Amino acid sequence: MKTKANHAVAICAAMVLGVAFASGRVAHAAGVTVSIACGSEGGTSYDLCVKASNQWAQKAGNQVRFITTPASSSERLALYQQWMAAQADIDVLMTDVFYPGVLEKGLVDLRPHFKEEESAFFPAYLKIDMLDGKLLAMPWFAAVGVMYYRKDLLQKYHLEPPQTWAELEKDAESVQTEERAAGNPNFWGYMWQGKAYEGLTCNAVEWLASYGAGSIVALDGKVTVDNPRAVAALTMAKSWVGKISPRGVLSSEEPQTLQVFYAGNALFLRSWPYVWSVAQAPDSPLAGKVGIIPIPKGPGTDGAHAGTIGGWSLAVSKYGKHREAAIDLVKYLTSSEVQRMRFLEGALMPTRMALYEDPSVLAKEPAMKIFYDAILSASPRPSAQTGAKYNRVSSVLYTGLHQMLLGESGPQATVASIAAKLDELSDKGKDW
Ligand code: GLC
Repeated sequence: MKTKANHAVAICAAMVLGVAFASGRVAHAAGVTVSIACGSEGGTSYDLCVKASNQWAQKAGNQVRFITTPASSSERLALYQQWMAAQADIDVLMTDVFYPGVLEKGLVDLRPHFKEEESAFFPAYLKIDMLDGKLLAMPWFAAVGVMYYRKDLLQKYHLEPPQTWAELEKDAESVQTEERAAGNPNFWGYMWQGKAYEGLTCNAVEWLASYGAGSIVALDGKVTVDNPRAVAALTMAKSWVGKISPRGVLSSEEPQTLQVFYAGNALFLRSWPYVWSVAQAPDSPLAGKVGIIPIPKGPGTDGAHAGTIGGWSLAVSKYGKHREAAIDLVKYLTSSEVQRMRFLEGALMPTRMALYEDPSVLAKEPAMKIFYDAILSASPRPSAQTGAKYNRVSSVLYTGLHQMLLGESGPQATVASIAAKLDELSDKGKDW
């Protein structure tokens, strides 16, 4: 794909080369070196970022420098904040759905550069990256919380995939007992992310939404987390620890939970779409043995399937030295061609809507439909209503919940203390 900006960069590169030749220096660097923090969502996400960025570099006559970042979204944001404070020369940043509100001041408005393409993207994701009319990042891949299960094991014990949490708990407990008795003492019913970080917030948003317990902070800013359904949802989650989930979930992010599932030591795993490509890879011990279902419902008529909305975008830092080339790289990485490749090779969900109807994609990967449906009924984190303070909201939430899961406090006291802290942070929900 040759774009105008590519041409511009190529012309600049030619000019630089001319000077280099004239001054007698060795002209091996054709263009500029753009730096990108691709991050890794797990699976093949990082490798596919490197692959596509290098393709761009070759086409544009530039080079790309890859900067490694922590796997945890919370730690990665903290690092980006340090970079911004130091005005570090880094051009492109992979940003989580809640970063734009926090990093606003350091990001370039991409709207003028994507005017013609904007309408091809998921409106919900554009909204996530839009602040005060500025498009602070381009949606790169979508994600939603889903439940993976061992199809072969449910069949072995004549069980149907669960619809509700109560059914999941029952299956997890009975299969765990059977599999341990059959000679696997390390087998667990259910793996999820319980470390004190953003991933725990994502799990908790699902617990609460699936119980009809609201979204922690309502759209009008009011703190709503202290309610009986939230207490019921947290009581359930707390009861899993040590029973159907190892205590190790309390220090696990996505990669550690996947490890246990991949090794054949768990019946259920809550995670994101990319896990599908890892589980289904030809060399995977789980190939052909895994199914996907929506996050289970809570009890009663208020119960609903509710996966948390996740996903990542690409932003251009104001402090990078190669803004034009950086924007061009973002254009290439978010192109239809690259998004198709990333979905087929890494189950990274496109943010361009047309790909969800592309027969060549659907035929190769039927799971696309399951993920798409889950995205349509997904629950957002309370980032729109809490803006620049979301980061602190999430930290209050995951810190409080983690203490509760460790057994240091009960569910009712936990929601009361989280609510009090959030009220304090926002002048009782009036000042976010
Ligand atoms: C996944 C999601 C992201 C979320 C993170 C939490 O990477 O795409 O939105 O914040 O997991 O661990």
